Amino acid sequence: MIEHLTRFDTIGSTNDAAREAAAAGAVDGAAFLADAQTAGRGRGDHRWHSPPGENVYLSVLLRPRVTPQAMSALTLAVGVEVARVVDAVLPEPRAMIKWPNDVYVDDRKLAGILVESTVQGDRPPVVVVGVGLNVLTAAFPDELAERATSLKIAGARAKRDAVAEALIVSIRATARRYVADGLAPWLDELRRRDWLGGKAVRVGERRGTAEGIDREGRLLVNGTPCASGEVELL
Ligand code: BTN
Repeated sequence: MIEHLTRFDTIGSTNDAAREAAAAGAVDGAAFLADAQTAGRGRGDHRWHSPPGENVYLSVLLRPRVTPQAMSALTLAVGVEVARVVDAVLPEPRAMIKWPNDVYVDDRKLAGILVESTVQGDRPPVVVVGVGLNVLTAAFPDELAERATSLKIAGARAKRDAVAEALIVSIRATARRYVADGLAPWLDELRRRDWLGGKAVRVGERRGTAEGIDREGRLLVNGTPCASGEVELL
């Protein structure tokens, strides 16, 4: 039984629900889970495919007692944890992380992470960790069909609720450890799961070879660290 979990049949975006609940006083670690989203979104204002009855759309609200800047690599730690949850249900573990916020299986996107922070004067920031994870989708719309996958397509017989509950437990624990220790506890595994390593990429104006992830969680492209940006394969 998971405490502080609010479930919705249909909601615009669980990230927005978490932020609104934060304004109304919701506790650190409160979780918001929807069967469907009508305005699910990813980074760069991309739409997140959120049909009913198929996938996990989850947000966890955090109130860390650190600056929002200190939380900047949390996405990567959460990515490693999402990959572990995925590997635990796959017949052959193989989840990878496409820096900075995607979980890939068989070279296709299985899950995305959207971390959004709001600062309220000198109070601790409100940080919302949103995870969309494709569980039961058997066929994606044409525009996603080549790029997306689900646990079902990857051969796992996973239950949505069990996956969602594992994610909630893990995100809450990850947030606590990340605030105490930063990215270090996840760095080795993050590097082992680095899907971009050795690939030719473009990040903003920079083109080159992805050469791994530094201790701050930045992507190295031809030796230069990139702190943020959308990565395109060349
Ligand atoms: C990305 O791939 O850019 C991140 C996708 C994050 C999608 C999840 S679904 C639950 C939560 N609510 C949202 O509107 N977005 C996140």
